[in-house]
Amino acid sequence: MPNTVLVGSQWGDEGKGKIIDVLTEDVDMVVRFQGGNNAGHTVEIGQDKYVLHLIPSGILRENQVCIMGNGLVIDPLSLLSEIDELMADDIDVTGRLFISDRAHVVFPYHRALDGASEDRKAEGEKIGTTKRGIGPTYGDKIARVGLRMADLISPSFPEVISGRIDDANLILKAMGADLVDKDEIIAEYTKAAERLAPFVVDTIPMISEAIKNGKSILMEGAQGAMLDIDFGTYPFVTSSNTTVAGACSGTGMPPSAIDRVVGIVKAYTTRVGEGPMPTELSDEVGETLGRVGNEFGATTGRPRRCGWFDAVVVKYSCMINGYDYLVITKLDVMDSLETIKICVAYECDGKIYDTIPADIGIMERCVPQYEEMPGWCEPTTEIDNYDDLPEKAKAYVARLCELVGSELGILSVGPKRASTLRVKI
Ligand code: GDP
Ligand code: IMO
Ligand code: MG
Repeated sequence: MPNTVLVGSQWGDEGKGKIIDVLTEDVDMVVRFQGGNNAGHTVEIGQDKYVLHLIPSGILRENQVCIMGNGLVIDPLSLLSEIDELMADDIDVTGRLFISDRAHVVFPYHRALDGASEDRKAEGEKIGTTKRGIGPTYGDKIARVGLRMADLISPSFPEVISGRIDDANLILKAMGADLVDKDEIIAEYTKAAERLAPFVVDTIPMISEAIKNGKSILMEGAQGAMLDIDFGTYPFVTSSNTTVAGACSGTGMPPSAIDRVVGIVKAYTTRVGEGPMPTELSDEVGETLGRVGNEFGATTGRPRRCGWFDAVVVKYSCMINGYDYLVITKLDVMDSLETIKICVAYECDGKIYDTIPADIGIMERCVPQYEEMPGWCEPTTEIDNYDDLPEKAKAYVARLCELVGSELGILSVGPKRASTLRVKI
């Protein structure tokens, strides 16, 4: 398979975990490039269900090499419990999981600052973060006061972190939040460092070597384009580049080595957390999508907001990412709907928008402009050939691709590996 980047094209949870697992069969290396344990990537294999937060979803395939790139923010304790859970399920990660020495580390004070900052915000201003410390860790990275995996496993770690904890406690105190305990952090994280040290390497030459040797690399995005720090619905976003540029800055892979960009979308729209979502439904259809789609956050368990497919969003994310192919998931969730709507533009203050306005106030007031299509009202999960789909389902999928301006690569009609119709990829 050519070197491929798979990125979420909506507000996350598009089914990246499932599709990465499917595509891993054809590659030599799977690489995560940004985000942290705010992500929750689900893979269902037979009766088993795995939710990966930090480790690439390719790890579930035997002997697959997996890399956590420099663009990630890594909570060492969360990573260790993920490794332990996999080991308990007889999935051995030793010798095939590699962590970049340049990836930044999430500490308890980052989580405390994330929580304190959210708690202080008024209703309407809260971002609805996962409270995993993601924003404060990326903030420290940009402010040049972060610690990286190389620092965590260095003998000078206790010295270096000491000043950082003092600084964080000054801020926490000013915010009226509980302080973090320095001795506890140093003891606990020194222990974690010992366990993680064998996995920590310079991943840049590894990736470069793989490219030189013609190996096939699959890049696993986290979150989605609308949560991108630059392109998303700012400030209701995450703190990293979830779009294709993040695959280069988060791994050291040169853009010229990327052969193919694949965008993944749900056949409808979901969002967890706060911020504008023009097609959100608070009616029976929204309830049906949430119930049939089992739309609860894989990390926080929060119910996901559900609504119609927003083609303005996906066309915009295609502009930024340049999709060669589109993967559409969860078509089966719409099997019972008699009529289906697609948002093709927004209206706000008498003006029509066919792309995402930067002004969050405008985005919040946008009224979706819909076109309607008939539903197919037949089950699709058992179908294993694209041509055998109901004609109305094919027409819906074709219309989505036409509106986005991209070709269909894969259609997913259920959470399991078998419910995957590989059309072009
Ligand atoms: P990710 O964050 O993009 O990896 O997505 P999540 O794992 O957070 O959420 C996607 C959910 O949808 C998971 O529970 C998957 O098992 C499930 N899923 C993926 N593809 C399909 C599909 O085609 N149909 C249905 N019904 N469920 C799917
Ligand atoms: P995957 O990879 C859906 C959302 C949070 C919140 C905002 C900022 O599973 O698709 P953060 O903790 O990152 O500072 O929260 O981003 N968010 C996600 N929503 N899927 C995710 O990841 C998400 N990761 C973060 O709900 O609105
Ligand atoms: Mg998820």
